[in-house]
Amino acid sequence: MTGQVCDRQLERGSEIVLASHNAGKLHEFSLLLAETGIKVRSAAELNLPEPEETATDFEGNALIKAEAAAKATGLPALADDSGFCVAALGGKPGVYSARWAGPQRDMSIAMNRVWDEMQASGSVDKAASFVVVLCLAWPDGAYRFVKGECCGQVTWPVRGEHGHGYDPMFVPAGETRTFAEMDESEKNRFSHRGQAMERFLKECVI
Ligand code: IMP
Repeated sequence: MTGQVCDRQLERGSEIVLASHNAGKLHEFSLLLAETGIKVRSAAELNLPEPEETATDFEGNALIKAEAAAKATGLPALADDSGFCVAALGGKPGVYSARWAGPQRDMSIAMNRVWDEMQASGSVDKAASFVVVLCLAWPDGAYRFVKGECCGQVTWPVRGEHGHGYDPMFVPAGETRTFAEMDESEKNRFSHRGQAMERFLKECVI
């Protein structure tokens, strides 16, 4: 099975490592998996290095992170990679979504760049989506992906105080409010992450 896509599942009560040093993600995944009895160990607790995300798509980066953590710990590992994809920009910023905020991680820089490039593109297409890919990898090299996507429109000027990242410039399909004008539980009903998590529980846990 080494290096192969598989349809293997996690057993309830087993232990996995979350291949992320982000405390918010650890909390989110631990809550999601609580009902399954799966125990989530963190990359920080296990002192794992953060591999460089050198791939050009979400699957590739999620796999780099999950594979490195599974090999280093001997445990199944879960990683995610996500981003904001704008149709008029050919899917950019995509996997570079975090990098568009610069070394200061200033999201106003990133959102202004998206809007400026949309204006410069000459396109009137406002379609955009948030995408997340989860990768579950085993120490023997087997892995599988679960994807979630939330489609909608770019809006400008930005609106709302909640959320993070590009939330203030994105209105999901069928809504008039931006993600940043919704509270967390409302956003999760639509969101790419909410969808991927639901699928993960259905498809990847027995
Ligand atoms: P990563 O998957 O943690 O590397 O995140 C990639 C980047 O995509 C984040 O830094 C955000 O800029 C953006 N992003 C991912 N998910 C969301 C979301 O739900 N709302 C707003 N921005 C997001």
